[in-house]
Amino acid sequence: MARKKKLNICLATAEFAPLAKTGGLADVSAALSAYLHKAGHDVRVVMPFYSTLNRGDLKFDPVDNFQNLTVTIGPWDVEYSVYRTVLPTSGLSVNLLRCPALFDRAGLYTAGKDEHLRFLLLSRAAIELCQHMQFSPDIFHCHDWHAATIPLYLKSNYAWDKLFANTRSVLTIHNIGYQGKFPAEILADMTLGPNVGHLHQDDLSSGVINFLKTGILYADLLTTVSPTYAREIQGAEYGMGLDDVLRARSDSLIGILNGVDDEEWNPQTDTLIPRRFSMQNLAGKKTCKKELLKELGLDNNPARPLIGIVSRFVSQKGFDLMEAVLPRLLSQRDFSLAVLGSGDPHLEKFFDSLHRQIPDRVSFYRGFNNKLAHWIEAGADMFLMPSRYEPCGLNQMYSLKYGTVPIVRETGGLADSVQQVNPSKGTGTGILFRDYDTAGLAWAINTALDLYKDRPLWKEIMLNGMAMDFSWQQQGEQYVKIFRKLSGK
Ligand code: ADP
Ligand code: GLC
Repeated sequence: MARKKKLNICLATAEFAPLAKTGGLADVSAALSAYLHKAGHDVRVVMPFYSTLNRGDLKFDPVDNFQNLTVTIGPWDVEYSVYRTVLPTSGLSVNLLRCPALFDRAGLYTAGKDEHLRFLLLSRAAIELCQHMQFSPDIFHCHDWHAATIPLYLKSNYAWDKLFANTRSVLTIHNIGYQGKFPAEILADMTLGPNVGHLHQDDLSSGVINFLKTGILYADLLTTVSPTYAREIQGAEYGMGLDDVLRARSDSLIGILNGVDDEEWNPQTDTLIPRRFSMQNLAGKKTCKKELLKELGLDNNPARPLIGIVSRFVSQKGFDLMEAVLPRLLSQRDFSLAVLGSGDPHLEKFFDSLHRQIPDRVSFYRGFNNKLAHWIEAGADMFLMPSRYEPCGLNQMYSLKYGTVPIVRETGGLADSVQQVNPSKGTGTGILFRDYDTAGLAWAINTALDLYKDRPLWKEIMLNGMAMDFSWQQQGEQYVKIFRKLSGK
């Protein structure tokens, strides 16, 4: 039998765990590229060298011949240098674009006037880096709006280069709520010259350039991170104004559920939690709960159910429902809450005041803390994620792996990864509610708290979840399949 040819893949992303992360995009870029690399494909990752990079023990070496390069963006010659680091777990090397003028900022993203330039540099330099390396990608894998102009550039400004003659572009939409919408004044910075007609003309006349929409128009294939979300975004309720362009490309839009990075999120090997555990031996989970309660200063009552929340504080995640429901439920029922997150100051205040009112049952850690995220996944009994919309969601899958029963809204990837518990049959992995309203959320939490009292049943639900396979082995192979089909390789 003929051996399958390896694929050449260039993957451009704004986030990559553990180097730069605000959410699941980082986890997915890292785990997917590591999978593809281990499967024998030639993967070139390109990302910004943010000054806030989480460097750990990694070494970042300047790449010979790729120092002080320039790319012309509008009237500017933007200078950048390429650094490389090799990730110890996978052996994959990552190319980082060092450009202090654009990437030395307080956070990964800004609300500044040059935000578009930062990610135009990522996109254009990713293409030009392929030219410098004389690397001919079969697949240019572009993630979210930050890299979504690449498909257009490949089909216009760089179409002359034979290097890209067989390159097919794939745009993965992780979250349609973030589109990279800029005022048409940035037109010159697009540097499209005679190709300017390729931009969405109605948008342009109404004064807008939308990076994600541009990607949707020009990528050879569109993917998003769950099958349900792929359907949802083609309708007005979830499409955030892009449903019409997505419907027009319906045949080229595929939903592939994210996987879980087993080396990072595995209760049997996790070095960040107080004690490891498995389906066969759940004793460690009890220890994790006890230690977590202690760590967070919560009342040490092991029998009281503990609900965990780890999230960006944004409206997507269903916080308005939590605000309306949690105070009343906390007064009616006996459970504790461990909250980790930051974002919307109003929500930070809400959890802070909830903690002050009931300090022995509500804890709130404001900020980003990976170790605590692992502890909460391991030590909580339930995980709350009542999202208004959720392209995939990773935390509910981590929860399932750690025997922490998810309480989620039935939308996007939550609907695709959690199965409703059926108490009489002992089947299912979590509690789902359908309608985005307070009655739905209250019902779901109450149901979970009631089920928790039936200890043998609860254990069955935990084990059902822990037995689920969300490995990248499975999900990564789906990407390989579509990449092969697209490239004909
Ligand atoms: P999203 O990408 O929309 O934020 P996901 O569930 O896909 O949602 O991914 C969130 C990722 O970010 C998870 O790995 C989660 O553990 C992590 N995370 C979110 N908030 C925090 C936080 N405050 N501290 C540590 N990790 C966090
Ligand atoms: C986005 C989505 C989240 C998804 C993640 C990784 O940030 O909000 O649902 O899991 O990207 O694909």
